Amino acid sequence: MWYSGLNPEQQRAVAHNYGPLLILAGAGSGKTTVLVSRTGRMIAEGVAKAEQILVLTFTNKAARELKHRVSVKIGKSAKKISAGTFHSFGLQLIKKYHKELELDENFGIIDTSDSFAILKEMLKEIKVVGRDKYDLEHLYNLIQNIRNKKHNSTIDDEYHQMAEILAPKYEKRLNLLSVVDFESLLLKPLELFNKFPDIKAEVQAQYTQIMVDEFQDTNATQMKLINHLIGPHDNLSVVGDDDQSIYGWRGAEVQNILNFPKEHKNCEVIKLERNYRSISSILHFANDVISKNKSRHGKVLKSESKKVKDHIPELFILENEEAESEFIASEILNFIKEGYKPKDIAILYRSNSQGAWLESALKKNRIEYTITGGSSLFERKEVKDLVAFIRQAIQSKDVTLKRIINVPPRGIGETTIEKLNEYAKTKGITFAESCRLWREQDIIAKAGEGIDGLFYFLSELPKKMVSPGANETSFLEAFREMGYREYVYSLSDDASVGERKWGLVEIFARILFSFLEKNGMNLFMLKEFLDRLMLRDEMLSGDEEENKVQLMTLHASKGLEFPVVMLCGIEEDLLPHKNLGQDVDEERRLFYVGITRAQEYLLMTKCLERKKNGAFRKVAMSRFLLDANPELYKIYPRGVRPVSGEKRTQLVSDFLKSLDAKKL
Ligand SMILES: Nc1ncnc2c1ncn2[C@@H]1O[C@H](COP(=O)(O)OP(=O)(O)OP(=O)(O)O)[C@@H](O)[C@H]1O
Ligand SMILES: [Mg+2]
Repeated sequence: MWYSGLNPEQQRAVAHNYGPLLILAGAGSGKTTVLVSRTGRMIAEGVAKAEQILVLTFTNKAARELKHRVSVKIGKSAKKISAGTFHSFGLQLIKKYHKELELDENFGIIDTSDSFAILKEMLKEIKVVGRDKYDLEHLYNLIQNIRNKKHNSTIDDEYHQMAEILAPKYEKRLNLLSVVDFESLLLKPLELFNKFPDIKAEVQAQYTQIMVDEFQDTNATQMKLINHLIGPHDNLSVVGDDDQSIYGWRGAEVQNILNFPKEHKNCEVIKLERNYRSISSILHFANDVISKNKSRHGKVLKSESKKVKDHIPELFILENEEAESEFIASEILNFIKEGYKPKDIAILYRSNSQGAWLESALKKNRIEYTITGGSSLFERKEVKDLVAFIRQAIQSKDVTLKRIINVPPRGIGETTIEKLNEYAKTKGITFAESCRLWREQDIIAKAGEGIDGLFYFLSELPKKMVSPGANETSFLEAFREMGYREYVYSLSDDASVGERKWGLVEIFARILFSFLEKNGMNLFMLKEFLDRLMLRDEMLSGDEEENKVQLMTLHASKGLEFPVVMLCGIEEDLLPHKNLGQDVDEERRLFYVGITRAQEYLLMTKCLERKKNGAFRKVAMSRFLLDANPELYKIYPRGVRPVSGEKRTQLVSDFLKSLDAKKL
């Protein structure tokens, strides 16, 4: 049952029981498929129990998919498999061992914008002159490198010195606030294993089989975590593709995969060379693109796709981004007319900023779409505000409180906040406690009443969410009464923008309540929802099963496949990206990842001009296309396919018929 339909190499991988295994293979060669079958087979044959298997995947969605596919064959026990991202696995460990880590049971997770706020405050506290000049993101990255014991490579400039000063303080501050940031989700488990060998042994004993998908994108910290976990059995199976390593900028080390056989004695290495995903034209093009990268484990994939019709990849040159988006929308309508479902179609782009034009064209053409990963709904200010209110209501944290203390404006300015801060410090209490005690301080009544109002709202909020009869409407009503809707409108230039933003709030409420209705209307589930939100669990987009066109960045498309893929903006400055793409080889791999998502059709677009800082600028074709063999893709300089043969006859006859119809 577990081997059917697989080729001999895949079968060998599925049959592997003990010791290290490396599957090094190209895109669409069935690596993930093998992981799923191996997991199921090991449980079915008693090599490991479901609860002894740990599978680390790139997204939580992929983890759920794996469990689902195994459960179809072995039933409910598949639920006990531990599968998820490194971050969600780390969170699980931290929750279990929070006492040992000296974390409050009710600890919270903060995101980067919260981290920035903490850094800003710290800069203020140490009274850095000209502190506003610091680029917080840069500082934040340097601090994270220090926490990860990764040497900051460049010279010892002012930023590095500041990061060195702030790093230990930042760590302390997180503890004080009883919050963890994303990095902590990996670092805390390491701390746990280093400090408590018995816990490490316990965890090692629990997981007798460990598997890692997309291994090419693990970073040094994640690698350390794996090394702690495997223990003496060394039952570690990793799968990956060096050509798809696209997270170097986040510290991923492709060396992890290349050195694997050296570091694990008696490692079985399996290569898969047949691609079951894409038709051969797409694969030829992909092979050619990636062959231009130097240092790689050269491999050439052969297509085994059963799709009979072959279509050469196409590049359409459009006037500007408006024309590009219109073109994409009209192509989508054509594909749908031909029988493709909207969810069969993906639009991939390098930078989130490309999404806006595309969205508006899709809306105009009434094409339903969903944005996966990254800057979706949950990145929006309005949604973040709401999350902060809910979080503050159920697990008060000073970072969160500070985000919303004056949202909407309730007369609590910088000076008041500083006073409250000072008071908290002198009394050794939290900021929240200091707020409650505003009467003891030199705080104006208006601000004090604002604080009281907010605290009252927060104390009532949980009731409006999880008590019997609570629903989306009562929840939204509470925010409206508090003045949040008005505030959203007041921040927008015109009413339609305000309406759209409030629309986001409504969508968020719908997702939240459908989650609670499905999983339980209680505080525990509410907290679970917030945690998943922080981990960007795609499940919460709520509509993953829906039949909609999928928009996402190239990074987010890893591991996925679609019959029709449209890659937008294959231009210099976008791919390779001007600011983000310092490693050109990595950018080329990103292009390769995009191409290899396509099963049947690959359409690419390039504009002649693009708007930058308000003015149109000419743009050049991406070097990746110029480097590629021109016979492997077709260019349409005017953005349209010439119509020929049968189709032309059909068009003419349709036209004549329409004339006849008019005559009648
Ligand atoms: N032996 C096989 N016969 C037919 N189809 C297969 C076979 N192996 C895998 N496939 C199909 O090929 C496609 C790609 O498989 P899969 O997603 O496992 O590849 P992958 O190597 O993980 O790709 P990526 O590198 O993009 O993550 C899937 O649709 C899968 O069902
Ligand atoms: Mg895969």
